[in-house]
Amino acid sequence: MYDYSKDPEFPPESIYPLDWDFDTSPQTWRLYSRAKREQWDEDQIDWAKLEEIASGLERKQRLGVAYWWCVLATFDNAAPVFGYAMVKSHERHIPTAYRSFISTITFDENRHCMVCGRASQCMFKGFPRGFKPQDELERKAARNVLWTWYNGARYWNAYKEAYNKYTFDVLLTSFMMGEAAATTIFSEMGDGAKIPQFKQVFRQISLDETRHYAFTHVLLQDNLPKMDESRKMMVTKQIRAGFIFLSLIMYRPPKDFWKLPHDYEEVHFKMEDLARDAGLGVPSLEEKEKAWREAVLRVGAAVSKYGVKFPEIPELGISGEEVEGVSEEDVIPVF
Ligand SMILES: [Fe+2]
Ligand SMILES: [Fe+2]
Repeated sequence: MYDYSKDPEFPPESIYPLDWDFDTSPQTWRLYSRAKREQWDEDQIDWAKLEEIASGLERKQRLGVAYWWCVLATFDNAAPVFGYAMVKSHERHIPTAYRSFISTITFDENRHCMVCGRASQCMFKGFPRGFKPQDELERKAARNVLWTWYNGARYWNAYKEAYNKYTFDVLLTSFMMGEAAATTIFSEMGDGAKIPQFKQVFRQISLDETRHYAFTHVLLQDNLPKMDESRKMMVTKQIRAGFIFLSLIMYRPPKDFWKLPHDYEEVHFKMEDLARDAGLGVPSLEEKEKAWREAVLRVGAAVSKYGVKFPEIPELGISGEEVEGVSEEDVIPVF
Protein backbone atom coordinates (compact mmCIF):
# COMPACT_ATOMS: atom_id res chain seq x y z
CA MET A 1 0.00 0.00 0.00
CA TYR A 2 2.94 2.34 0.43
CA ASP A 3 4.94 3.22 -2.61
CA TYR A 4 8.44 3.48 -1.19
CA SER A 5 9.88 4.39 -4.55
CA LYS A 6 8.46 7.89 -3.94
CA ASP A 7 8.86 10.37 -1.11
CA PRO A 8 6.00 10.16 1.39
CA GLU A 9 3.04 12.50 1.14
CA PHE A 10 2.49 14.17 4.46
CA PRO A 11 -1.00 14.70 5.82
CA PRO A 12 -2.26 18.31 5.92
CA GLU A 13 -1.85 20.33 9.13
CA SER A 14 0.96 18.11 10.32
CA ILE A 15 3.99 19.16 12.32
CA TYR A 16 6.00 17.04 9.84
CA PRO A 17 8.02 17.29 7.67
CA LEU A 18 10.52 19.38 9.55
CA ASP A 19 11.98 22.53 8.14
CA TRP A 20 14.64 24.74 9.61
CA ASP A 21 14.74 28.11 8.03
CA PHE A 22 17.38 30.35 9.53
CA ASP A 23 17.22 33.06 6.87
CA THR A 24 13.67 34.36 7.14
CA SER A 25 12.96 37.28 9.49
CA PRO A 26 16.38 38.12 10.99
CA GLN A 27 14.62 40.59 13.30
CA THR A 28 12.64 37.77 14.85
CA TRP A 29 15.78 35.67 15.27
CA ARG A 30 17.32 38.59 17.14
CA LEU A 31 14.27 38.80 19.41
CA TYR A 32 14.50 35.07 20.00
CA SER A 33 18.11 35.44 21.17
CA ARG A 34 17.15 38.36 23.34
CA ALA A 35 14.33 36.33 24.90
CA LYS A 36 16.81 33.68 25.99
CA ARG A 37 19.22 36.27 27.42
CA GLU A 38 16.52 38.19 29.28
CA GLN A 39 14.97 35.23 31.10
CA TRP A 40 14.34 35.70 34.81
CA ASP A 41 13.08 33.52 37.61
CA GLU A 42 10.03 34.34 39.69
CA ASP A 43 11.45 32.16 42.47
CA GLN A 44 14.06 34.88 42.98
CA ILE A 45 11.38 37.31 44.17
CA ASP A 46 11.31 37.48 47.95
CA TRP A 47 7.79 36.11 48.41
CA ALA A 48 8.40 35.48 52.12
CA LYS A 49 9.12 39.17 52.57
CA LEU A 50 5.96 40.00 50.65
CA GLU A 51 3.96 37.82 53.03
CA GLU A 52 5.52 39.71 55.91
CA ILE A 53 4.49 43.02 54.31
CA ALA A 54 1.00 41.60 53.75
CA SER A 55 0.68 40.77 57.44
CA GLY A 56 1.09 44.48 58.21
CA LEU A 57 -1.79 45.48 55.93
CA GLU A 58 -5.48 45.59 56.75
CA ARG A 59 -7.60 42.64 55.68
CA LYS A 60 -9.49 44.71 53.09
CA GLN A 61 -6.27 46.04 51.58
CA ARG A 62 -4.86 42.53 51.27
CA LEU A 63 -8.08 41.50 49.58
CA GLY A 64 -7.88 44.48 47.23
CA VAL A 65 -4.39 43.49 46.11
CA ALA A 66 -5.29 39.79 45.77
CA TYR A 67 -8.35 40.83 43.79
CA TRP A 68 -6.33 42.88 41.32
CA TRP A 69 -3.85 40.07 40.64
CA CYS A 70 -6.70 37.62 40.12
CA VAL A 71 -8.37 39.92 37.61
CA LEU A 72 -5.06 40.47 35.84
CA ALA A 73 -4.59 36.70 35.68
CA THR A 74 -7.58 36.54 33.31
CA PHE A 75 -5.25 38.08 30.71
CA ASP A 76 -1.97 36.60 31.89
CA ASN A 77 -3.35 33.08 31.75
CA ALA A 78 -1.77 33.20 28.32
CA ALA A 79 0.55 30.19 28.33
CA PRO A 80 -2.21 28.00 26.82
CA VAL A 81 -3.06 30.79 24.39
CA PHE A 82 0.49 30.90 23.04
CA GLY A 83 0.91 27.16 23.46
CA TYR A 84 -2.04 26.74 21.12
CA ALA A 85 -0.56 29.30 18.73
CA MET A 86 2.70 27.34 18.86
CA VAL A 87 1.01 24.09 17.87
CA LYS A 88 -0.85 25.81 15.04
CA SER A 89 2.28 27.59 13.86
CA HIS A 90 4.02 24.23 13.46
CA GLU A 91 1.04 22.63 11.75
CA ARG A 92 0.89 25.50 9.29
CA HIS A 93 4.64 25.66 8.82
CA ILE A 94 5.02 29.38 9.41
CA PRO A 95 8.64 30.64 9.53
CA THR A 96 10.90 28.87 12.02
CA ALA A 97 11.85 32.18 13.62
CA TYR A 98 8.21 32.95 14.46
CA ARG A 99 7.59 29.50 15.88
CA SER A 100 10.71 29.72 18.01
CA PHE A 101 9.83 33.12 19.36
CA ILE A 102 6.26 32.01 20.14
CA SER A 103 7.74 29.19 22.24
CA THR A 104 9.54 31.82 24.36
CA ILE A 105 6.31 33.81 24.81
CA THR A 106 4.60 30.63 26.02
CA PHE A 107 7.25 30.25 28.71
CA ASP A 108 7.14 33.98 29.59
CA GLU A 109 3.39 33.95 29.98
CA ASN A 110 3.45 30.97 32.28
CA ARG A 111 5.85 32.89 34.48
CA HIS A 112 3.54 35.93 34.45
CA CYS A 113 0.62 33.79 35.50
CA MET A 114 2.69 32.22 38.28
CA VAL A 115 3.48 35.74 39.50
CA CYS A 116 -0.27 36.48 39.58
CA GLY A 117 -0.79 33.35 41.64
CA ARG A 118 2.11 33.90 44.02
CA ALA A 119 1.22 37.56 44.56
CA SER A 120 -2.48 36.97 45.14
CA GLN A 121 -1.92 33.99 47.43
CA CYS A 122 0.73 35.83 49.48
CA MET A 123 -1.81 38.56 50.02
CA PHE A 124 -4.83 36.38 50.67
CA LYS A 125 -4.50 32.65 50.69
CA GLY A 126 -7.49 30.89 49.16
CA PHE A 127 -8.98 33.93 47.41
CA PRO A 128 -11.28 33.81 45.46
CA ARG A 129 -12.60 30.26 45.64
CA GLY A 130 -11.46 29.08 49.05
CA PHE A 131 -12.10 31.91 51.48
CA LYS A 132 -14.96 32.97 53.73
CA PRO A 133 -16.21 36.47 52.93
CA GLN A 134 -16.98 38.56 56.00
CA ASP A 135 -19.31 41.03 54.32
CA GLU A 136 -21.08 41.91 51.08
CA LEU A 137 -18.09 43.65 49.52
CA GLU A 138 -15.85 40.65 50.12
CA ARG A 139 -18.45 38.30 48.69
CA LYS A 140 -18.86 40.48 45.63
CA ALA A 141 -15.11 40.79 45.15
CA ALA A 142 -14.85 37.00 44.79
CA ARG A 143 -17.93 36.98 42.57
CA ASN A 144 -16.35 39.66 40.33
CA VAL A 145 -13.23 37.58 39.84
CA LEU A 146 -15.23 34.51 38.94
CA TRP A 147 -17.32 36.42 36.40
CA THR A 148 -14.19 37.92 34.89
CA TRP A 149 -12.79 34.40 34.54
CA TYR A 150 -16.09 33.27 33.06
CA ASN A 151 -15.62 35.83 30.31
CA GLY A 152 -12.09 34.50 29.94
CA ALA A 153 -13.65 31.10 29.27
CA ARG A 154 -15.83 32.63 26.54
CA TYR A 155 -12.74 34.23 25.08
CA TRP A 156 -10.87 30.91 25.11
CA ASN A 157 -13.57 29.22 23.03
CA ALA A 158 -13.61 32.07 20.53
CA TYR A 159 -9.83 32.06 20.38
CA LYS A 160 -9.60 28.39 19.46
CA GLU A 161 -12.34 28.81 16.88
CA ALA A 162 -10.52 31.78 15.35
CA TYR A 163 -7.87 29.45 13.91
CA ASN A 164 -10.57 27.92 11.71
CA LYS A 165 -11.82 31.32 10.63
CA TYR A 166 -8.87 33.61 10.09
CA THR A 167 -5.66 33.21 8.17
CA PHE A 168 -2.51 33.08 10.23
CA ASP A 169 -1.31 36.52 9.14
CA VAL A 170 -4.53 38.15 10.40
CA LEU A 171 -4.31 36.21 13.66
CA LEU A 172 -0.74 37.22 14.26
CA THR A 173 -1.30 40.89 13.54
CA SER A 174 -4.25 40.88 15.93
CA PHE A 175 -1.77 40.15 18.74
CA MET A 176 -0.61 43.75 18.67
CA MET A 177 -3.35 45.35 20.75
CA GLY A 178 -2.82 42.99 23.66
CA GLU A 179 0.92 43.45 23.72
CA ALA A 180 0.52 47.22 23.51
CA ALA A 181 -1.81 47.00 26.51
CA ALA A 182 0.61 44.80 28.42
CA THR A 183 3.67 47.01 27.92
CA THR A 184 1.61 50.01 28.98
CA ILE A 185 0.12 48.57 32.14
CA PHE A 186 3.29 47.00 33.48
CA SER A 187 5.48 50.03 32.95
CA GLU A 188 2.82 52.21 34.60
CA MET A 189 2.50 49.87 37.57
CA GLY A 190 6.27 49.54 37.86
CA ASP A 191 6.47 53.31 38.30
CA GLY A 192 3.52 53.48 40.69
CA ALA A 193 4.05 50.50 42.99
CA LYS A 194 5.25 51.22 46.53
CA ILE A 195 5.83 47.62 47.58
CA PRO A 196 9.35 46.67 46.40
CA GLN A 197 8.50 43.10 45.36
CA PHE A 198 5.68 44.38 43.17
CA LYS A 199 7.88 47.07 41.65
CA GLN A 200 10.40 44.38 40.82
CA VAL A 201 7.93 41.99 39.16
CA PHE A 202 6.25 44.78 37.19
CA ARG A 203 9.62 45.88 35.82
CA GLN A 204 10.57 42.31 34.93
CA ILE A 205 7.24 41.56 33.27
CA SER A 206 7.46 44.84 31.42
CA LEU A 207 10.79 43.72 29.96
CA ASP A 208 9.12 40.57 28.60
CA GLU A 209 6.14 42.47 27.26
CA THR A 210 8.38 44.95 25.46
CA ARG A 211 9.86 41.99 23.56
CA HIS A 212 6.42 40.62 22.74
CA TYR A 213 5.34 44.02 21.50
CA ALA A 214 8.47 44.33 19.36
CA PHE A 215 7.58 40.98 17.79
CA THR A 216 4.14 42.25 16.81
CA HIS A 217 5.84 45.13 14.97
CA VAL A 218 7.92 42.65 13.01
CA LEU A 219 4.75 40.72 12.21
CA LEU A 220 3.12 43.86 10.86
CA GLN A 221 6.12 44.70 8.71
CA ASP A 222 6.31 41.16 7.35
CA ASN A 223 2.61 40.55 6.79
CA LEU A 224 0.60 43.73 6.25
CA PRO A 225 2.17 44.79 2.93
CA LYS A 226 1.09 41.45 1.45
CA MET A 227 -2.53 41.70 2.60
CA ASP A 228 -5.47 42.58 0.39
CA GLU A 229 -8.14 45.04 1.45
CA SER A 230 -10.52 42.49 2.94
CA ARG A 231 -7.80 41.07 5.19
CA LYS A 232 -6.77 44.55 6.20
CA MET A 233 -10.37 45.18 7.20
CA MET A 234 -10.22 42.07 9.40
CA VAL A 235 -7.19 43.56 11.11
CA THR A 236 -9.20 46.74 11.74
CA LYS A 237 -11.94 44.66 13.31
CA GLN A 238 -9.43 42.79 15.43
CA ILE A 239 -8.01 46.03 16.77
CA ARG A 240 -11.49 46.95 17.93
CA ALA A 241 -11.92 43.46 19.43
CA GLY A 242 -8.61 43.85 21.23
CA PHE A 243 -9.67 47.18 22.62
CA ILE A 244 -12.93 45.71 23.91
CA PHE A 245 -11.32 42.73 25.56
CA LEU A 246 -8.42 44.52 27.20
CA SER A 247 -10.33 47.57 28.38
CA LEU A 248 -11.44 45.74 31.49
CA ILE A 249 -7.97 45.86 32.95
CA MET A 250 -6.72 48.90 31.03
CA TYR A 251 -9.64 51.21 31.64
CA ARG A 252 -13.25 50.05 32.17
CA PRO A 253 -15.22 47.27 30.49
CA PRO A 254 -17.15 48.50 27.42
CA LYS A 255 -20.74 47.42 26.77
CA ASP A 256 -19.72 45.02 24.01
CA PHE A 257 -18.65 41.46 24.77
CA TRP A 258 -18.41 41.58 28.57
CA LYS A 259 -21.11 39.75 30.53
CA LEU A 260 -20.86 41.11 34.06
CA PRO A 261 -23.12 41.72 37.08
CA HIS A 262 -24.73 45.18 37.13
CA ASP A 263 -22.61 46.39 40.05
CA TYR A 264 -19.38 44.86 38.78
CA GLU A 265 -17.70 48.17 38.10
CA GLU A 266 -18.64 49.70 41.44
CA VAL A 267 -17.09 46.75 43.28
CA HIS A 268 -14.11 46.70 40.91
CA PHE A 269 -13.24 50.33 41.59
CA LYS A 270 -13.63 49.85 45.35
CA MET A 271 -11.22 46.93 45.28
CA GLU A 272 -8.79 48.88 43.12
CA ASP A 273 -8.92 51.77 45.60
CA LEU A 274 -8.02 49.37 48.40
CA ALA A 275 -5.18 47.89 46.35
CA ARG A 276 -3.87 51.36 45.55
CA ASP A 277 -3.91 52.33 49.26
CA ALA A 278 -1.93 49.18 49.98
CA GLY A 279 0.81 50.30 47.58
CA LEU A 280 0.12 48.23 44.48
CA GLY A 281 0.41 51.18 42.10
CA VAL A 282 -2.97 50.89 40.38
CA PRO A 283 -3.42 54.01 38.23
CA SER A 284 -6.48 56.20 38.73
CA LEU A 285 -9.26 56.12 36.15
CA GLU A 286 -7.96 59.34 34.58
CA GLU A 287 -4.43 57.98 34.38
CA LYS A 288 -5.71 54.76 32.87
CA GLU A 289 -7.72 56.60 30.27
CA LYS A 290 -4.72 58.67 29.26
CA ALA A 291 -2.35 55.70 29.06
CA TRP A 292 -4.85 53.51 27.20
CA ARG A 293 -5.52 56.25 24.68
CA GLU A 294 -1.80 56.68 24.07
CA ALA A 295 -1.34 52.93 23.63
CA VAL A 296 -4.29 52.70 21.25
CA LEU A 297 -3.00 55.62 19.19
CA ARG A 298 0.44 54.00 19.01
CA VAL A 299 -1.13 50.91 17.51
CA GLY A 300 -3.10 53.15 15.15
CA ALA A 301 0.07 54.86 13.95
CA ALA A 302 1.82 51.51 13.43
CA VAL A 303 -0.95 49.96 11.31
CA SER A 304 -1.84 53.06 9.34
CA LYS A 305 1.64 53.02 7.77
CA TYR A 306 0.47 49.94 5.89
CA GLY A 307 -2.91 51.27 4.89
CA VAL A 308 -4.90 49.56 7.63
CA LYS A 309 -7.80 51.71 8.78
CA PHE A 310 -8.13 52.32 12.47
CA PRO A 311 -11.46 51.50 14.13
CA GLU A 312 -13.55 54.13 15.79
CA ILE A 313 -13.08 54.03 19.56
CA PRO A 314 -15.90 56.21 20.91
CA GLU A 315 -15.06 55.14 24.49
CA LEU A 316 -11.84 57.16 24.22
CA GLY A 317 -13.14 59.78 21.81
CA ILE A 318 -11.00 58.41 18.94
CA SER A 319 -12.56 58.69 15.52
CA GLY A 320 -11.97 56.17 12.77
CA GLU A 321 -13.55 53.43 10.72
CA GLU A 322 -16.86 52.37 12.17
CA VAL A 323 -16.71 48.70 13.13
CA GLU A 324 -20.06 47.17 13.84
CA GLY A 325 -20.99 43.94 15.47
CA VAL A 326 -17.83 42.85 17.19
CA SER A 327 -19.27 39.77 18.82
CA GLU A 328 -18.10 37.03 21.07
CA GLU A 329 -16.53 35.07 18.20
CA ASP A 330 -14.33 37.97 17.15
CA VAL A 331 -12.38 38.36 20.33
CA ILE A 332 -9.00 36.78 19.75
CA PRO A 333 -6.32 39.16 21.07
CA VAL A 334 -3.50 37.90 23.26
CA PHE A 335 -1.72 39.55 26.16
FE1 LIG B 1 2.07 38.54 30.05
FE1 LIG C 1 2.75 39.47 26.22
